[in-house]
Amino acid sequence: MSIETINGHLYAGGADCTELAKEYGTPLYVMDEDVIRQACREFRTSMEECYGRGMVCYATKAFCCKEMCRIMAEEGMGIDAVSGGEIYTALSAGFPAERIVFTSNNKKDEEIAYAIDNGVGRITCDNIEELYRISDIACEKGKKVRVVLRLKPGVEAHTFEAVMTGKIDSKFGFAIETGEAMKAAEEVAKLPGIDLVGVHCHIGSQIHEIAPFEKAAEVMFDFIAALRDKGIKISDLSLGGGFGIKYTDADKPIPYGDYMKRVSAKARECCDRLGLDMPFMMIEPGRSVAAPAGVTLYTVGSRKTIPGIRTYIGVDGGMCDNPRYALYKSEYTALLANKADEPKDEIVTIAGRTCESGDLIGEGMALQHAEAGDILAVLATGAYNYSMASHYNRVPNAAVVMVKDGRSRTVVRRETFEDVARNDV
Ligand SMILES: Cc1ncc(COP(=O)(O)O)c(C=O)c1O
Repeated sequence: MSIETINGHLYAGGADCTELAKEYGTPLYVMDEDVIRQACREFRTSMEECYGRGMVCYATKAFCCKEMCRIMAEEGMGIDAVSGGEIYTALSAGFPAERIVFTSNNKKDEEIAYAIDNGVGRITCDNIEELYRISDIACEKGKKVRVVLRLKPGVEAHTFEAVMTGKIDSKFGFAIETGEAMKAAEEVAKLPGIDLVGVHCHIGSQIHEIAPFEKAAEVMFDFIAALRDKGIKISDLSLGGGFGIKYTDADKPIPYGDYMKRVSAKARECCDRLGLDMPFMMIEPGRSVAAPAGVTLYTVGSRKTIPGIRTYIGVDGGMCDNPRYALYKSEYTALLANKADEPKDEIVTIAGRTCESGDLIGEGMALQHAEAGDILAVLATGAYNYSMASHYNRVPNAAVVMVKDGRSRTVVRRETFEDVARNDV
């Protein structure tokens, strides 16, 4: 988010956040279009310059709406979609189907059929039952599906337990070290309706080190060579997402280009050592494209000081629009948009509005003195906030506005009570 303070007010993407809150209401997700585009360009340029042939697939699970998919199409990105709903959103925004990769750990038959009918470029397969189902559905339709196998390289990155996905005890993918992955690959090679084109891994999220990516790449190349030795030729390699961003001063993000530089060097070294051609490379950044572009605005409704214990600042949103503190104790940086140049001289707990004690945006947060009517801005909320929103307590989902050059436009309308009850019978 390109943020600045002008006359005591917080500006995002050139727009006054206090005015945005007045115009659109709160809670409000604000996304800075230039920051999104800049991240895409950094990833794509580094892929082209450091590696060569490849595709940067934005993981739409981070933040998905039609406008985001249109921006991804314009930026020449691919899309890593995790469900029929994400594929539908991308296609209905005019996103080219062949640049979509469908990656999830338990696809429904109708989602597989939908992906095949619409010409989705690749399906990443997670388990053996899914493999048989993809083969059956492809055969019924007389189609051949390009399949990528999701593997567990057994690499642990230093990240929160719940978002660590590449180690062996994970619900995602086939383990390499147990022989499960090789067995699956040999099985696919025999199945009709499937073209095994690639292998995939994703080692975790919010990773601030390059070494785990290099290690994962090494393991994957060794596996590609082992496949080659069995007569199975692989042309694509996806190394997933997971690039860390700055939520608080404790986070020290690495420039995206540095990952690509080091991983590309490792790829070249592995290919030379193993006598492999350089595969078509895919990466799947989600958080790093969307999170830094977002800020969420709330209206402060209450202030409750419990002497000797803490001060709660109550806001009009919370776990319904941002469940990450409740889920993972994820930390954020916050400030008052209408008092942005005042000192942060209080330590507070920011409490959400739902009937749940754990509904907090954060604890021990430094903030300016907050009173009812102030506008609270929580930074770096562009990923895994709107996309993880819920209707708990029948709270309508917040609107999303995109800002660019000081102008704003609605990209997702605020829900109404009627929207919340739309499917009730
Ligand atoms: C398979 C896969 N690819 C990409 C991503 C995106 O990760 P991140 O948002 O950390 O870049 C995830 C996140 O869970 C994932 O599971």
